[in-house]
Amino acid sequence: MDQIIVNGGTPLVGEVEISGSKNASLPILVASILADGSSEIENVPHLRDVRTICEVLKTLGVKVAFKGDSRVEIDPSWLSGYEAPYDLVKTMRASIYVLGALLAKRGQAKVSLPGGCAIGSRPLDLHLKGLEKLGVRFSLEHGYIYGQAKKLVGKEIYLDVPSLGATVNIMLAAVLAEGETQIKNAARDPEIVDLAEFLKKMGARISGEGTDQIDITGVKSLKGTSYQVIPDRIEAGSYLVAAIITRGKIKIKNCRPEHLTAIIDKMEEMGASLDLGPDYITLVGRDKLSPTEVITRPYPGFPTDMQAQVVALLTVTPGTSVVTETVWENRFMHVEELERMGARIYQKGASAIIEGVSNLSGAQVMATDLRASVALIIAGLVAGGETTISRVYHLDRGYENLVDKLKKLGAKIERRQSK
Ligand code: EPZ
Repeated sequence: MDQIIVNGGTPLVGEVEISGSKNASLPILVASILADGSSEIENVPHLRDVRTICEVLKTLGVKVAFKGDSRVEIDPSWLSGYEAPYDLVKTMRASIYVLGALLAKRGQAKVSLPGGCAIGSRPLDLHLKGLEKLGVRFSLEHGYIYGQAKKLVGKEIYLDVPSLGATVNIMLAAVLAEGETQIKNAARDPEIVDLAEFLKKMGARISGEGTDQIDITGVKSLKGTSYQVIPDRIEAGSYLVAAIITRGKIKIKNCRPEHLTAIIDKMEEMGASLDLGPDYITLVGRDKLSPTEVITRPYPGFPTDMQAQVVALLTVTPGTSVVTETVWENRFMHVEELERMGARIYQKGASAIIEGVSNLSGAQVMATDLRASVALIIAGLVAGGETTISRVYHLDRGYENLVDKLKKLGAKIERRQSK
């Protein structure tokens, strides 16, 4: 298995270009099968999760072609299957989005249950409850959820928690349902707004996206379109933290600062000086940082997908900080790896209490999930000596050209191919 080797101690300096959002691309690629014609999606990052969703679509008979660096053409005219197999779904939970799309388009869907996940139990009850309300009848057979609906009819649906995935699945089904659907306590994430924008370009009637109530009036058919995916806010946030921890000076280009408000506010509260433009963030100072308290919450709260990176930053921030994870119950697996690098962290229930140390020291560490992996790289960038990160396949799921982008900023980082 490949490893990434980081030699710490070099401030990151220069400019970095943010790629398209992974978590917006996945539902948009699936949504394109709702149309009667082809769609062209731009700013799609080259990532393992994107390739996986494209494989899922191909097994359904959809034609998928990568054009150039970041353009994907989807032609759903040959959509014939209705089954997403275990081998693909087990590698990426977002495959579950085909459930809503297939029910809308084909009236039936058979999707493997995704199985366990390292960051915590990830139930699908809200996805199923929402779709059931629209008229779907589900059964569980041999590890697969089988859903069937003679027709979908719009309803009022309340989500107990503002689940991003459940909001996506219900939106995908409701755009072609008969009548009006209201999703209450909907996820408000920028990825949901991006999906709604794409669906509207296809002819869907949606309003309220970005608020906690999304209203959808079903239409009879949708047409193919072209669309540009938003930049990846978590990638941007990760480079921001990497620059702050190394006392660097960088410009993060092609990002949407308004999608990172909770992250930017927290960094400024800690003492970082940032300059925000319409599509860039510049880290201007090399300031002394103060400890802080972070609680992860659904958007617009502090994102759980930035929790591990911030924990890495706080390990070298003088004083005591507290980070509380409220979204995923098991998302502190990076803590033990950071401790191997000299971090002082005490875990108490859903909180990590972090005593800042003056230095971390490079060590051999193991990545456990996507965001934990990047947190270990961020720690490695400031640690004394060499840090070797194994199981880096997690990173290939969510960070496009990470090693090259960091190298361009002056980091001493290499990927070692396994023999
Ligand atoms: C999305 O996952 C993201 N994945 C995750 O990013 C992210 O951590 C998460 O949202 C929260 O922001 C993608 O977009 C592909 P949820 P999702 O449904 O949709 C509970 C990454 O690193 N819940 O919003 O699966 C659930 O247990 C990944 O890029 C139910 O109770 O998350 C959790 O506590 C990791 N029942 C909360 O809701 C349900 O039916 C939020 O989950 C569904 C969810």
